[in-house]
Amino acid sequence: MAMDIKQVGPAFAGEVTGIDLRLPLDAKQVVFVEAGMDEFAVLVFRNQPITDAQQLEFSNNFGQIESSEGGNPTSKLHNRRLRVDMADVSNLNEKQEVFERFDRRRLFNLGNRLWHSDSAFRATPAKYSLLSARHVPKNGPNTEYADMRAAYDALEGWMKEEVEDLICEHSLMHSRGALGFTDFSNEELETMKPVLQALVRTHPANRRKSLFLASHAGSILDWPVAEARIFLRDLIEHATQPQFVYAHRWAVNDLVMWDNRQTMHRVRGFRGEEQHRDVRRTTIAGDGPTTRQRA
Ligand code: OGA
Ligand code: MN
Repeated sequence: MAMDIKQVGPAFAGEVTGIDLRLPLDAKQVVFVEAGMDEFAVLVFRNQPITDAQQLEFSNNFGQIESSEGGNPTSKLHNRRLRVDMADVSNLNEKQEVFERFDRRRLFNLGNRLWHSDSAFRATPAKYSLLSARHVPKNGPNTEYADMRAAYDALEGWMKEEVEDLICEHSLMHSRGALGFTDFSNEELETMKPVLQALVRTHPANRRKSLFLASHAGSILDWPVAEARIFLRDLIEHATQPQFVYAHRWAVNDLVMWDNRQTMHRVRGFRGEEQHRDVRRTTIAGDGPTTRQRA
């Protein structure tokens, strides 16, 4: 079957057909997917019943797989369900049971309902994320994606100048703090030190500019905190208007792949949280920091 990509929803989301993710990809297929990512930024692959090993092998085609360590400081070696090179964004504990309401891992994961870009809290933020739906409830939550290139393009000229050289501080502390989840041990806090990120990024392949926003961003260098927070809040509101958003409705065995350098995403809440939602993410590390870090 020939490889193809068809636009689904707004211009930045495409559905790929003609590739079986269970099999090793040849060079042509890898180039096809990468070119598709550069053009679209979100790609959907349907009916891909893959194992963890197959997901890792497919992900390996696109760069270095990021360790999920530190991505959820409440998740420790003894209570992890998945290997460390996979991020567990399910609602399940290590016994494959739905989290108790007050489980800290659940509370921490609620942060995924805020708009974000994966690993923006790391000095080198993520390139791609690949999320495989192994089991999803019938009326489970959508995951929404926002096109940060279109959002940048739609800024007025004076605003483009205003944001051009701004540097933000990002930390998991800020996104979780926004939800009132501040109950962290000193050891956990140690892993959540803020990093610096450029607010405007240029994509290395398509040279388009995008807003690099996330709920982890809590301040702007040299700005009063209150002014930075309302400015960032307004920008996120701008960037997530319906015309910039694709909502993915999950079916079992979907794999969605997105470029964190050009998009933000969030998962929505859902009724029936007692149902298993098993979604597993592999993450491709970025090439390097978006700006110089503090010494
Ligand atoms: C993620 C994430 C969304 C979801 O995997 O990075 O934010 O659908 N999860 O659970
Ligand atoms: Mn995420």
